[in-house]
Amino acid sequence: MSVERTLCILKPDCVRKNLQGEVLSRIQKAGFKVLGLKQIRLTKEEAGAFYAVHKGKPFYNGLVEFMTSGPCVPVALQKENAVADYRALIGATDPKDAEPGTIRKLFADNKGENIVHGSDSPENGKIEVAFFFPESELI
Ligand code: RTP
Ligand code: MG
Repeated sequence: MSVERTLCILKPDCVRKNLQGEVLSRIQKAGFKVLGLKQIRLTKEEAGAFYAVHKGKPFYNGLVEFMTSGPCVPVALQKENAVADYRALIGATDPKDAEPGTIRKLFADNKGENIVHGSDSPENGKIEVAFFFPESELI
């Protein structure tokens, strides 16, 4: 196992529900180190670029709409085996399919509004962390 970076985003539904601390606390208790964190409001262009891999899919426009609907909190995380461990902690995309005790099972309303983002590979972890944080902001 090697030390990896993964990008968490506390999505706009997480911020609206005032769950930032609750969710981040679970992430920290699971052993993730916070390298960087900020609250921002994504533009349509930024959200569209971040989720460009999903362009053309039926949920893409709704996803961009949702991700720009209010502030969100990108968090750069680091840990051994971070990508897989973080995805296990957040659970399946649709909270209906998520394991009991996972963040999405506990807090998400539906597949679209699912509280958190997580990178899907170590390579994308690096790319997505760099999307939001210049290296100078990572400590
Ligand atoms: P994420 O990228 O946000 O961590 O989520 P994920 O890997 O678990 O899921 P992914 O397939 O990458 O989808 C990205 C986000 O798009 C929204 N979505 N809605 N209504 C739908 O059928 C649907 N499918 C995906 C979710 O917000 C999902 O997290
Ligand atoms: Mg994904």
